[in-house]
Amino acid sequence: MIVDVQNPQETVSRHTSAGEIAGSRACKIGPFCLHPPAMQAGLAGYSDMAMRVVARRRGCPYAVSEALLDRVLLAGGRGREKGVVLCDEDHPVAGQLMGGEADELARAAQILLDAGFDGIDLNFACPVRKVMGRCRGGYLLSDPEQALAIMRRVREVVPGPLTLKLRRGLDDSQQAGESFAMIFEEAVRLKFAAIAVHGRSVRQKYTGRADWDFLRRLKRRYPDVPLLGSGDVFTAQDALRMYRYTGVDGVWIARGAIGNPWIFREFAALAANRPLPPPRIQEQRAALLEHFHLAIPIYGPEQTSRRMRKIGIQYARLHPNEAEVRREFIGVQSPADWWSVLQRHYRADGPGREAGHVSAGWNSCHDLEDDGEVRE
Ligand SMILES: Cc1cc2nc3c(=O)[nH]c(=O)nc-3n(C[C@H](O)[C@H](O)[C@H](O)COP(=O)(O)O)c2cc1C
Repeated sequence: MIVDVQNPQETVSRHTSAGEIAGSRACKIGPFCLHPPAMQAGLAGYSDMAMRVVARRRGCPYAVSEALLDRVLLAGGRGREKGVVLCDEDHPVAGQLMGGEADELARAAQILLDAGFDGIDLNFACPVRKVMGRCRGGYLLSDPEQALAIMRRVREVVPGPLTLKLRRGLDDSQQAGESFAMIFEEAVRLKFAAIAVHGRSVRQKYTGRADWDFLRRLKRRYPDVPLLGSGDVFTAQDALRMYRYTGVDGVWIARGAIGNPWIFREFAALAANRPLPPPRIQEQRAALLEHFHLAIPIYGPEQTSRRMRKIGIQYARLHPNEAEVRREFIGVQSPADWWSVLQRHYRADGPGREAGHVSAGWNSCHDLEDDGEVRE
């Protein structure tokens, strides 16, 4: 079966908005100015080149790879080729790194820059048990000495934009607050291009609410530091609310972009007081086809079809027959199955639904393996 992306350029011009938010501050990451002030977040198991390009064609101005383990990159392992796939359309893009040793991270950063990434993002946020147990990701929020050593060493080798992904602390203790402040202030001193903060603690994982008041206080305290806000952004309305309420410079769009790449143009349109209707069925079909087609060179047709199951399920939220479409995506095993779901449910046009709220069930659904892949 040959799946063709029908006229992607036309899709770009129809779907992309200039994204200027009237009266808003410029959101800059190094030389890159983000309109709208939002980005495709790093999402293990999702934010690969295919997802990023589909989002860019619908107004996403900047994207981050999923967390890539430094050791996998250094060993040239299985996760390496897939994680570093880029294409001409996929810029500007930051390669996100996770690790525990300063020299290894510095060498891995060089690999990503050589592969064509425009900047490096350091992950001191991941709460997954295995990652924490190996003194990586969110663990570093509890070890500021090591975190600072890593930041300084990586800064030496990254001339371009270097950014940082944090959570608001390891937990709610005073010590966690002090460690967060040390790390944040060192990032400022080292002239990191932007700092993304997820308003949950590491201990919270994905439970409870993200603390937008924390982001708001942080922005007030450091008005000149480019701050990206993360947490509980499921719709364009959420993105605009976070942007306005917290004063962050940009919104890190994570779960809200899975299966809804229109969220970027919707955010821009909403901010300009011109809300858009949800994507019609034919627009959804085009995005699904593009996603599938772009993923094939990375994973091959069989793996792509299986991988598209979890992505199709999220797209189904915008379909008027959500439950049925979702059930059918779950059963996809092969490219032929995938194609038949599209033919059955996405052939005729019609209005789509507003994206629902996807807050439940995420806290335990992903687990980073050592090779950087995600088990679900
Ligand atoms: C499945 C999944 C994978 C994630 N992978 C990453 C990752 O690789 N790098 C990263 O910085 N954050 C990762 N995150 C965290 C998100 O980027 C984001 O900070 C978090 O989900 C909070 O935003 P949200 O509540 O709007 O989804 C992941 C989250 C989920 C749900």
